[in-house]
Amino acid sequence: MLNFTLQNPTKIIFGKNQIKNLAKEIPANKRILLTYGGGSIKSNGVYNKVIKALKNHVVFEFGGIAPNPKFEQLLAAIPIIKKNKIDFLLAVGGGSVIDGTKFIAAAANYKGDPWKIVTQDPSPIEHALPIGCVLTLPAAASEMNCGIVISKTNSPDKISSGNDLLYPQFAILDPTTTFSLPPRQTTNGIVDTFIHVTEQYLTYPVGAHLQDRLAESILLTLIEEAPRVLSDPKDYNARANLMWSATWGLNDFIGVGVPNDWATHMLSHEITSRFGLDHGQAIAIVVLSLLSLKRKQKKEKILQYAKRIWNITQGSDNEKIDEAITKTKNFFESLGIKTKLSCYGITKNQVPALIKQLKSHKLTALGEHGDIDLKQSEKIYRGCF
Ligand code: NZQ
Ligand code: ZN
Repeated sequence: MLNFTLQNPTKIIFGKNQIKNLAKEIPANKRILLTYGGGSIKSNGVYNKVIKALKNHVVFEFGGIAPNPKFEQLLAAIPIIKKNKIDFLLAVGGGSVIDGTKFIAAAANYKGDPWKIVTQDPSPIEHALPIGCVLTLPAAASEMNCGIVISKTNSPDKISSGNDLLYPQFAILDPTTTFSLPPRQTTNGIVDTFIHVTEQYLTYPVGAHLQDRLAESILLTLIEEAPRVLSDPKDYNARANLMWSATWGLNDFIGVGVPNDWATHMLSHEITSRFGLDHGQAIAIVVLSLLSLKRKQKKEKILQYAKRIWNITQGSDNEKIDEAITKTKNFFESLGIKTKLSCYGITKNQVPALIKQLKSHKLTALGEHGDIDLKQSEKIYRGCF
C-alpha cells in the first residue's frame, strides 16, 4: 500500500426529510447565497423545502448555473457577493452546481486572474468562502470532495482542479430529491460513479486489499441497484444506495494509498467540451477503449475485476480481459448508455482536433504510469468508434 494522508472534513447528513435540519448547519448570522441550476429544484420541490428551512436566515439567490459550469457565468456571482456581503454559499443541485459554487467560493476574494483557479492544480488560493450543499444528482461526488471541473464558454476548455479549502462543510443527501431525475441523468450518475471507481482501482496492485474490496463493493452495489431504480424510479432504497455509492466513488477513501489513473476522465473532458456529450456519456465510451489498449499494464487488476465483479474464471488471460470489457460494455448499454462515439455522429476525422486540445491542455503524459502520450491517446480515441 502506498503512503497517504487523509482528511475529509465534510459532514454528511443522509436520509429522508433532512433538508429541514439545514438551518442548524449554518450560523444564524450568516448571509447566504443560494446557488442552483436551470430550475429543476423549483419543479421538484427542493427549492421550497430549502427556503422554508432557511426562513430565519438572510438569503440571496444565484440561479442558472449551466451543466458543465462556465467560468464567465460563474464570475457574475462575485459582484452579488460583494454588494450583499455574502459570507456563506449553499449549492443546491448536482455536480455542476456544486463545482460552480466551489469556484465562486474560491474566486470571491481571489486577487489574481480567476482563470488560474482552474488552470493551476491545486488552485492557488489562500481563502474560500464556506460552502454547504444539498445534493440532487448522485454522480460527481463533488458534495464530499475538494475537486472542481470548470469550462470556458465557446472554447475547448473543460479543466479539472481543486484545493483542500474547497471541501463543503456539510452535504445533505436526501434520496427523495433524486426521484425527479430523468433516466438519462440517473444513468449518467451510475456510469460516472462506476468509472470514478475504475480510475482508482483498475491500475496495478500495491497490496491495498481493503481499498480494493471497498472499490469492488461500490461496483457490485451499482450493478445490483441499477435495474431496480430503472424499473422503479421511486424505489427509495435503490436511490439511497446509489446516492451513497456515488459519494463513495470520489470522496478520497478508495483513492488513497493506491495508484490513480484518471486518463479516461481527462480524455473525456475534451470530448464533452468539443461535442457537448454529457460527462457520463463520454467516459462510458473512452474507458472501454482505454482498458483494451492498456490491458498489458493493467492485466492483474483487470483479471481481479473480471473474477470478483463478473465471475469470469475460464479462458486465457486475454480472453478473460476481453470478456470483462464486454460485460462492462453490456452493463453500460443496459442503462441505455451508448458505447461508441459514432453513435453521437462523431467521425474519426475529428480525432486530430481532440489531440490538439489535449496538447494545448498539456495532457500529454496521462495514466497511472504517466505513459499515455498523445500517440496512445490517439489510439484510445480511435478505439472509441
Ligand atoms: O440545471 P439543474 O436544474 O441543476 O438540472 C440538472 C441538469 O439539467 C438536472 N438535475 C439535477 N438534479 C436533478 C435534475 N433534474 C431533475 N431532478 C433532479 N433531482 O440534471 C442535469 C445535469 O446536472 P449536472 O449537475 O450537470 O450533472 P452531474 O451531477 O452529473 O454533474 C456533472 C458535472 O460534474 C463534473 C462534470 O465534469 C460535470 O461538469 N464532475 C465533477 C467532479 C468533482 N467535482 O469531483 C468529478 C466528476 O468526474 C465530474 O467530472
Ligand atoms: Zn466523473
